[in-house]
Amino acid sequence: MSAPSSTIRWCRGRGELSRAAADHVEALLARKPGAVIALPTGQTPLGLYAELVARTAAKRLSPAQARFFNLDDYLGLSVDDPLSYARFLREHFLMPTGVPEDHIRLLRGDAVGIEAECRDYEAAIAAAGGLDLAILGLGTNGHIGFNEPGSNWSARTHVVFLSPETRATHMTQTQGKFAIPEYGITVGISTIVEAREILLLVAGGAKARPLAAFRRGIPDSKWPVTALLTHRNLTVLAEAELQAAAAEGVMGLTNP
Ligand code: GLP
Repeated sequence: MSAPSSTIRWCRGRGELSRAAADHVEALLARKPGAVIALPTGQTPLGLYAELVARTAAKRLSPAQARFFNLDDYLGLSVDDPLSYARFLREHFLMPTGVPEDHIRLLRGDAVGIEAECRDYEAAIAAAGGLDLAILGLGTNGHIGFNEPGSNWSARTHVVFLSPETRATHMTQTQGKFAIPEYGITVGISTIVEAREILLLVAGGAKARPLAAFRRGIPDSKWPVTALLTHRNLTVLAEAELQAAAAEGVMGLTNP
């Protein structure tokens, strides 16, 4: 197993974290313009998307040949729903950078046959040649995508019951303006760890516990993020202010 601390780069604030993440994507696109990339939603990657939009406008990079998937979404929402992750990604990254429609495949949370949608999604990733890069955020309970604590690590794209903690966090983030669905749809941990490269972005005080669980270095299904410990090409970009808090939390970690 790789030593977790050696994979973590501590960044001074979200600005540095976003620029470092954008450097990563820029380097991949320079190496492989047609790269296949899975994208996260949430507050953490907003700075990365702003940076990529600015660099695209400045012609430093072009995501037009790359292909994009998302990691997760709520179940039952159409891709146009204001709460949907599909809409978020279109708004913050895919549209402003002009990624062509036929290079975008996002989960359809309102698909009528959801099992078939999950299979079709996996088939689309495979047909694209597999993920070159999975960019991940981190849930306060250690989830990656919507793979909640206790998830099966051999799962592929599937429907999940969202934990009360996840729903409460999202309720707060959306200031109670939306009813947060009970279920989500997510690529599985298997899908994620098969990506040739993984970039995990960790920002915000509430991430100290899951980051501590990761730094402990023990694979533990109660902390889905620890499924990444054995990945051969993992980079973690984390806010430096989490360093002390995450170290303190290493002892006595429990997760519901
Ligand atoms: C949601 C998403 C995750 C994301 C997480 C972190 O739960 N399902 O994919 O990583 O939020 O969000 P934030 O960056 O807002 O903390």
